Amino acid sequence: MRIRSADFDTSATDISTCPPPGLPEFTFIGRSNVGKSSLLNLLTGRKGLAKVSARPGHTQLINFFTINEQWRLVDLPGYGYARVSKAAQEKFADLITGFLLKRTVLTRVFVLIDSRHEPHRIDLEFVSWLAGCGVPYVLVFTKVDKLKPNAVTKNIGLFAAALKDDWNTDMPEVFRCSSETGAGRAELLAFIGSQI
Ligand code: GTP
Ligand code: MG
Repeated sequence: MRIRSADFDTSATDISTCPPPGLPEFTFIGRSNVGKSSLLNLLTGRKGLAKVSARPGHTQLINFFTINEQWRLVDLPGYGYARVSKAAQEKFADLITGFLLKRTVLTRVFVLIDSRHEPHRIDLEFVSWLAGCGVPYVLVFTKVDKLKPNAVTKNIGLFAAALKDDWNTDMPEVFRCSSETGAGRAELLAFIGSQI
């Protein structure tokens, strides 16, 4: 898929301020700092479209972008960022779960996982929750430029094993991406193209 246009639509603070459902939506979610905004910029080829931050917890709103006037990318706030208050964490959790369960045009959720680490409980819990709710999703392992391909494969294998053994959830489709090298971009865009 060629990206002809990528336009920021709006930032929503809650479900009621989201734009009216229309185009099919592909939604990015993952732990804070996993590389959601960077991947969004890579996919669209627009470096400054979503704000990339050295400080985790930067994206605190639901950001909507329209691509090729044909589909939407949605950047959700990162979950599991410990250094905000409990109340703020709960507010994010409500925002995220409400959006994922109620958004009728949600075509696919991309759950981003940092490929550098062994499985985190919060990612496993989140994926298991998604699967249990029947929300369609795939896994995107990010920052694969940071380690050798074998090490990435090992961490993906550990994730699959933990999902199967501890959460009784099948492993969905997997993508490996790097916003540094561009790895995975063509595959993700082809996948989106096949879904719209
Ligand atoms: P929040 O909005 O705070 O939840 O973060 P985010 O998930 O949007 O992550 P963001 O794209 O802001 O990236 C966080 C940090 O990781 C930044 O310092 C990025 O430069 C870095 N980063 C993101 N993707 C990659 C990648 O593929 N490779 C490497 N090496 N660094 C990356
Ligand atoms: Mg972000």
